[in-house]
Amino acid sequence: MIENFKTLKYFFIEHKWAYILGVVWLIFVDLLQLLLPEILRRFTDDLQANVLGSQEIFRYGLYVLIIGFLLAFFRFLWRIYIIGTSKKLEFELRNKLFSHLLTLSTNYFNKSKTGDLMAHATNDINAVRAALGPGIVMIIDAIFITIIATTMMFLTTDVRLTFLALLPLPFLAFSALRFGKTINQRFRMVQESFSSLTETVQENLSGIRVVKTFVQEEPEIQKFAEKNQNVFNKQMHLIRIFGLFQPLIFFISSLSYLIVIVYGGSLVINRHISLGDFIAFSTYLALLIWPMMAAGWVVNMLQRGSASMARINTILSQEPEIIDGEDAVELPEIRGDVRFDNVSFKFPDSQEYALKNVNLEIPSGSTLGVIGRTGSGKSTVASLLLHLFETNEGTITIDDKPIETIKIRSLRDHIGYVDQDSFLFSTTIAKNIAFGVDEASEDEIRRVAKIAQVHENIVDFPKGYETFVGERGVTLSGGQKQRISIARALIKNPQILILDDSLSAVDTDTEEKILHHLSAEMKDKTSIVIAHRISTIKDCDNIVVIDEGEVIEEGTHEELINRRGLYTRLYEKQLLEEEISGEE
Ligand SMILES: Nc1ncnc2c1ncn2[C@@H]1O[C@H](COP(=O)(O)OP(=O)(O)OP(=O)(O)O)[C@@H](O)[C@H]1O
Ligand SMILES: [Mg+2]
Repeated sequence: MIENFKTLKYFFIEHKWAYILGVVWLIFVDLLQLLLPEILRRFTDDLQANVLGSQEIFRYGLYVLIIGFLLAFFRFLWRIYIIGTSKKLEFELRNKLFSHLLTLSTNYFNKSKTGDLMAHATNDINAVRAALGPGIVMIIDAIFITIIATTMMFLTTDVRLTFLALLPLPFLAFSALRFGKTINQRFRMVQESFSSLTETVQENLSGIRVVKTFVQEEPEIQKFAEKNQNVFNKQMHLIRIFGLFQPLIFFISSLSYLIVIVYGGSLVINRHISLGDFIAFSTYLALLIWPMMAAGWVVNMLQRGSASMARINTILSQEPEIIDGEDAVELPEIRGDVRFDNVSFKFPDSQEYALKNVNLEIPSGSTLGVIGRTGSGKSTVASLLLHLFETNEGTITIDDKPIETIKIRSLRDHIGYVDQDSFLFSTTIAKNIAFGVDEASEDEIRRVAKIAQVHENIVDFPKGYETFVGERGVTLSGGQKQRISIARALIKNPQILILDDSLSAVDTDTEEKILHHLSAEMKDKTSIVIAHRISTIKDCDNIVVIDEGEVIEEGTHEELINRRGLYTRLYEKQLLEEEISGEE
C-alpha cells in the first residue's frame, strides 16, 4: 500500500520540516488535552475536601483558560503545517499531472476518455491529499492519545474499571473500519452519478443549437431529470449509512459510560477511588472516543489514497509514443523542400492502411493541392508531416533530412497548420490569433487577419479584436472561425503552411482573395492545400488526387482535366453544381 506513495518521496524530503513541526504541534495539542483530566481530578478532590477558597477556584479557572488558549494556538499551527502542506502537495500533483498529460502523444487522447482524465485530476488527487493530510493527523492522534490516555487510566484509577470500560472501544475502531469502507464506496457512487449529470448539462449547453433545432428539449429535460433522480438516490443511499454510523458510534461509547457509571460509581461509594478519579476517568474516556474511531477510519483513507495514487502513477509513467530520437537536431532555418518517399501508414490499432506507397515532392516555393473523397487519407498526410504519428514504411524528408532526425519542437515550429476543425480557445480573438507565438504586436495580428480576409469581420464586432470567442462571447460563423485559424497559423511566419480543408466554409470570392494574398505571403515557402473543392486548388503548382490512401492522379489542373479520371469527374460535377446554383 505504501509503495504507491514512493513517487512522492521527493515531496516528503523537500517538506520534511513542515511535517515534522506539524507533528510536534499536534503532539503538543494532544498533551495539553491530556492535562485536562488531571486538573479536573485535583479540582474535584479539592472541592470535595472543601479546601478551596475563591482564590484557588479562580486559579483553576485560569489554568483551564490558558490551556484553552494554547490548544487553540497549536491547533492553528498544526493545521497550517500539516493540512497546508498537503494542500501544497495537491497543488504540485495537479500541475505535474497536467504538464505530463500535455507531453503525451495525440494518440493517447484518442484512447482515453476526457471524463476519466478529469476524474483523475479531481477525485484521485483529492483522495491522495486526504490520506497525506488528515490521514496523518488521525494516525498520530490514534497512536498518541490512545497510549497515554489508557496508561493514565490504568495507573491512576482502577485496573479492573479501566479494562472493563475500554472493552467496547475496539468495536468503535472496527465499525469505523467497516462502515468507512461502505461509506467510501457509496460516496464514490455519488461522485460518479454527479459527474454524469454535469456531463449532460455541459453537452446540452454547448450543443444547445442541435438540441433546439431537433426539438429535443423535452427528451433532454427528461434525461436530465432521470440523472438527477439517480444522484438523489445515490445520496440517500449514502445518507442512510451515515445515519446509521453516527448513532452507532454514540451507542458504543455509551456502553463504556454505562460501565463507568455502574462499576465506577460503586467504586466511589466504596471509597475505592475518589470522586476526582471518577471525573478524570470519564474525561479520559471522552478523549479516547475520537482516536479510536480515527484508527478504523484512517485505514480506509490510506487505502483509498493509495489506490488513487496508483492510478495517478499509471498516468505519470505513460511515455509519449512519439519522442525525439537520440540524434535528433534542432533546425533553426529550413528551406522547406518536402518529400514523401513510398510512405505507407496504418493508424495504431487499425488493420487497414490509411496511406499506401505515397510519393510526394513539394519543393520550397511551390504549392501542392491535395484533393480526394472524404476519408481518403488527406488529413493523414498532414498528421504524418507534423510527426503526430510514426510512419510504418517509407520516409518523409524536409530539406532531405528525415523528419525523425529533426527535433519535434523544431519541426512543428516551422509548420503552420490550420486544422480541419478550426478549434478556437474561449478567449479573445486577438489571443487566439497570437496563440502560437510568445509575443505579437497589434499590427502583426491585424496584418495576418487581413491576409486571412477576416479583419473586416472582426472590426465590425463591437469589441473588435477583444471579442470573446466561444462560450461567453459571440458565436463566430464557421467561415470566420476558419479564417481566424488561418491567421493563427500565419502569425508564426512558418516556412511550411498546411491548410486542411480550411476554406470549405468560405465563399469562392473570399477564397480567391485569401489564396491570392497567401501566394504573395508564401512566395518562397511551401504550401499544402487540402480541399474538396476544385476551385481551392486549381491554381496550385501541382495537384495530387488521393483515393483510398493512394495517389491515383497527379499533375496541374490542365493536365488532370485532360486525363479524364476522378479529377475530371469531380470537376465536371462541381461545374454542374455551380451552373445550377447560378441559374437560381
Ligand atoms: N486517429 C485515427 N485512428 C484510426 N483511424 C483513423 C484515425 N484518423 C483517421 N482515421 C481513418 O483514416 C482514414 C483517413 O482519414 P483522413 O482523416 O486522413 O481522411 P480525409 O481524407 O482527411 O477525410 P476528410 O475529407 O473527411 O477530412 C479514414 O478511414 C479514417 O477513418
Ligand atoms: Mg481530413
